Amino acid sequence: MDKIVVLDFGGQYAHLIANRIRRLGVYCEIKDGEVSKDELLDYKGIILSGGPATVSGPDSLVCDPGLFNIGVPVLGICYGHQLIAHILGGRVDKGEVREYGHANIHFYERKGILADIGENEDVWMSHFDQVVEVPDGFKVVGSSSDCEVAAMSNYERNIYGIQFHPEVAHTPCGMRVLESFVELTNAKREWDIDKYIDNITEEIKSIIGDKKVFLMVSGGVDSTVAFLLLEKALGSDRVYGLFVDTGLLRMGEREQVESELKEVGITNLHVYDASTEYFEALKDKYEPEEKRKIIGNLFLDIQGKVSDELGLDPENWFLGQGTIYPDTIETGGTKHSHTIKTHHNQVPRVLKMKEEGKVIEPLEQLYKDEVRMVGEKLGLSKKMVWKHPFPGPGLGVRTLCMKQADEMENIKAVEIKINEILVGDGLMGKILPIKSVGVQGDERTYKHPVVIYGKRCDWSRLNILSTQITNQIPEVNRVMLGLSPAKFNDFSTKNSYLTSERILKIQKADKIVMDYIYEIGFDKDIWQFPTVMIPVGVGATDSESIVLRPVESTEAMTASFYQMDSEKLDELTKRLLEIDGISGIFYDLTNKPPGTIEWE
Ligand code: XMP
Repeated sequence: MDKIVVLDFGGQYAHLIANRIRRLGVYCEIKDGEVSKDELLDYKGIILSGGPATVSGPDSLVCDPGLFNIGVPVLGICYGHQLIAHILGGRVDKGEVREYGHANIHFYERKGILADIGENEDVWMSHFDQVVEVPDGFKVVGSSSDCEVAAMSNYERNIYGIQFHPEVAHTPCGMRVLESFVELTNAKREWDIDKYIDNITEEIKSIIGDKKVFLMVSGGVDSTVAFLLLEKALGSDRVYGLFVDTGLLRMGEREQVESELKEVGITNLHVYDASTEYFEALKDKYEPEEKRKIIGNLFLDIQGKVSDELGLDPENWFLGQGTIYPDTIETGGTKHSHTIKTHHNQVPRVLKMKEEGKVIEPLEQLYKDEVRMVGEKLGLSKKMVWKHPFPGPGLGVRTLCMKQADEMENIKAVEIKINEILVGDGLMGKILPIKSVGVQGDERTYKHPVVIYGKRCDWSRLNILSTQITNQIPEVNRVMLGLSPAKFNDFSTKNSYLTSERILKIQKADKIVMDYIYEIGFDKDIWQFPTVMIPVGVGATDSESIVLRPVESTEAMTASFYQMDSEKLDELTKRLLEIDGISGIFYDLTNKPPGTIEWE
């Protein structure tokens, strides 16, 4: 099958390019940016991705210059565009102005990759450096007001560079640019989900040979689809599915997963109750990454224990996982990317096993939307295919813990700046004594959230204010609306860890939320609805609060907060306040970036 390759220089969105090319019908793979040209000879086209480095900086990443002589079309995007200029004899320098977000480009020529676009197009940019001199043989074919070489072409050698990002939805002409590139490569458009299923089935057979797979199952769509694919390739007697009840699951989830998997024809599922082990291992932990690693490692310990009890020879068994691409990239799993959070299925021990060739992850190149397509083709019910994602570490990363209140040092000065932004809208802001994870400029952040409260204004205004706060106040990465009580002047905190009592409390809240959105039919509009519990009481002592975090997304790499009908939200708030020991209800107004979907 014809294929195109994306060379990854560490951009969080590099994978999106591959996703888009596949959408255009050509199979696309991602490789490390620095691979030798000899590994690129089987591809019909090469795309160089964006990335956080500077081409001439000490930690710059450089592709093999030989790839420009292979004779297939090459497209450089952002850092990739600058790299082409740098390697082929042009010049890259610091721009006067940083272009971040929207820009408009005037195109002088509409040929090559620009064959199908208008004279002026809105695009999305994110850069400081820029190409200031194009290499010999190249022409400047597009400029924005702050970037003269926004696009350059060498038609003779079929090499193109663009400073903007065609892969993001904010560049409306982006898919047309990528489509023209695909046409230049002459790659046959043979990729679709059926082909993927056929190919991966063959690949599974060849990797596993006459061995077997011990698959970790969560009941979510990813591992269920992986289960079905493995069974299709190997037969059910060569796949052992293990569902670990961590005690950190949703209320009634274990029983639900057992019956759902039975419904889709999976009969060889085994369940292990590990809740005691999990609560013991997490009893005095509060730091999110430490919690994540403990949870991920314990999955492996339990897999080993069950395997020993069954007398399975490790030499004959692969570890199977339903890992998808965002799990890898967010764990810093590509060579040049940063770790945003350690996904439970990508802890260092798993990475080592992967290096040793002991792991099979049939969905590792796919995104949630593609997994869902595979699921549909394999006959999964709509209910299962569209099930909201639930992270492996479960409520363990939705129940914040605390060793001591995390007060911001210069809190008064920061709150004054926040209130300057809010005052015109009749709102006030307070910083909470806790932190959550975010992703800003391809990097992990761990910062305080702000709660805003006062006059009710509409969601679009709140969206603008939330973005202004996180853009302008570097100490903060998340903004919430205070729903109840009316005022958020005083907070109480107490040391809190993961206990079965706290998990029961968040399970009750999560059940109220999930039941309610299904009752009113909002489950389909909302992509995922985490309910988060924070060890912060509002006013009253010895209580905690609930944060509602509904989001819209397609592949989890970007997300926007869901704008819920206000009356329905009031009803949900009322129901949640009936839980014993809950004094505050918040609504998360943060998009991704700057916040991640989960808080930890
Ligand atoms: P974030 O919080 O990084 O989450 O925006 C993106 C998506 O990934 C899910 N998630 C996980 N899924 N194991 C998983 O299987 C994990 O460790 C994990 N952490 C986050 C999250 O629920 C969201 O859908």
